[in-house]
Amino acid sequence: MPVVTIDGPGGSGKGTIALRLAQHLGWNYLDSGALYRLVALSAMNHNVEISEERQLGRLARELDVEFVPHGNEPVTLMDGQDVTGKLRTEVVSAFSSCVAAIPMVRSGLLDRQRAFRQAPGLVADGRDMGTVVFPHAQLKIFLTASAQERARRRYKQLKEKEESVNLSRLLLDIEKRDERDRTRAISPLRPAADAHVIDSSEMGIAEVFQEILRLLEKHQVIRKDMLS
Ligand code: DC
Repeated sequence: MPVVTIDGPGGSGKGTIALRLAQHLGWNYLDSGALYRLVALSAMNHNVEISEERQLGRLARELDVEFVPHGNEPVTLMDGQDVTGKLRTEVVSAFSSCVAAIPMVRSGLLDRQRAFRQAPGLVADGRDMGTVVFPHAQLKIFLTASAQERARRRYKQLKEKEESVNLSRLLLDIEKRDERDRTRAISPLRPAADAHVIDSSEMGIAEVFQEILRLLEKHQVIRKDMLS
């Protein structure tokens, strides 16, 4: 079963690209960041603190979650409730990066992530898809962009939703989250040895998408007629 992994820091565009690629190929899509966000949200709902590692591990193993395909943003149900709007808030973003550093949370989510590998193929988006979860993936992409460019993209996104935001504050938050994701002891954010690194700082989504299709064809994961 073919697997394509797209790892990289938040704001690199990997979520948009991975979903678009899955739709283009008719493959399954795993947004692993959403799982860490769901653990964070569940912990907040149950008043579980960051120091309660065992409890957090249990929440990760027992998450009752369903992703319902819905255009460009799947609807996420936790315990049957639509939590899509809550998952991307700054407070959940910050807490998810803390819970993601806990080994029991990571191991608690491992089988659930691997279960997404189903016919006809999987596009998996995250931080450790190519290094830990799917080390034998047919194609591994590490998509990155400068912190400034990622902050600018996030600013634009939040402005569109009319949330009040401050660009320099966003940049600081992004740098803090990157630092936590890169330096944690377990599954740190880094490209797999066999990953193709793409810097999207000066590339549009369409350009990145075409580059990934080209790599897929080159590695014989897709046929030439699936290029456009
Ligand atoms: O991709 P995202 O921003 O939705 O991810 C939210 C947090 O989860 C992020 O701070 C890092 C963490 N994460 C992780 O540690 N491993 C993954 N495979 C995906 C996300």
